[in-house]
Amino acid sequence: NLPKEVTIWEVGPRDGLQNEPARLSTEQKIAWINSLTESGLTHIEVSSFVSPRWIPQLADAAEVFAGIQKKAGVVYSALVPNQQGLERALNVGVKAVAVFMSASETHNKKNINKTIDETFPVLRDVTRTAKMHQAFVRGYVSTVFGCPYEGEVSAEQVLRVALALLDDGVDEISLGDTIGVATPLQTERVLDRLLKEIPAERLALHMHNTRGTALANLLVGLTMGITKIDSALGGLGGCPYAPGASGNVATDDVLYMLQGSGIQTGIDEGKLLQSLELLQNSVGHALNSHASKVHLAQGGDH
Ligand code: HMG
Ligand code: MG
Repeated sequence: NLPKEVTIWEVGPRDGLQNEPARLSTEQKIAWINSLTESGLTHIEVSSFVSPRWIPQLADAAEVFAGIQKKAGVVYSALVPNQQGLERALNVGVKAVAVFMSASETHNKKNINKTIDETFPVLRDVTRTAKMHQAFVRGYVSTVFGCPYEGEVSAEQVLRVALALLDDGVDEISLGDTIGVATPLQTERVLDRLLKEIPAERLALHMHNTRGTALANLLVGLTMGITKIDSALGGLGGCPYAPGASGNVATDDVLYMLQGSGIQTGIDEGKLLQSLELLQNSVGHALNSHASKVHLAQGGDH
């Protein structure tokens, strides 16, 4: 039982580029995001208003936001960790923000320098202020399917964090398999627990494809009523400091699977592949996705 329509949230300009060894210029980022808009994507995560000391790759978030062409009806989002980030985002007219935290203590501390319980009030304030500005607020929960420091994370702990964020006013929760360890049966088990308390419309799946299980996990999610998928074009990303790590599940691979299953996304495959070529030229190396390899092996024509 699969949905008829799925919303893809393209996170490559944020999640992909924050981990990409090649540095794109602001102009290259803008050109790539414009081509993503052209492809028919309705949700694009443009950048992050985090500390530029922590993520120097995205220090130009304001310039990128100001420079992109914004098509009516398309949601352009940005990550914000605190009030300072929210203010920077609102200053350049961002209307959809994403707060983020982890379900596991150690990852939360390493990523945003706070304990889980210290994080809630910070994100609550950000969410309230964002709502006063009529912004859409997404809440990412990381390490849902496993933590690099603590191993398996219980579904109860994921539920506790997700419900707290929803209580504080976030519009939807994106469930992050941060290090790409989830398997299909585990995905089913975790979703089964969460869906008892949270409607499927308020949940998105954010799978990294480190171990090649992301598409299988997404298919499980689709059969359980999930209709929101996060992905990055070409599977962009991976960490320069973690050999073997790879990025988000690839938008082009997700699209192939959805189209073959008769599921609508509104994305034009040919235009998405043009955007992929632009991206590949900008990063200067081959991308990870299966669809991009096939496309280039066939000469790159549409
Ligand atoms: P901190 O050092 O504890 O922050 O970092 P602080 O509040 O003590 O401030 C220290 C300095 O940072 C100050 O500057 C602040 O002004 C500045 P100084 O006075 O020393 O010159 N600062 C900022 N500057 C610009 N924008 C801001 C900002 N905030 C503080 N927003 C902080 C805490 C949260 C800022 C830091 O830890 C941080 O930026 N972390 C971000 C880490 C990150 O971006 N990780 C990747 C995104 S999450 C992810 O990828 C997972 C996801 O994809 C889902 C999944 O896969 O699971 C979403
Ligand atoms: Mg991620």
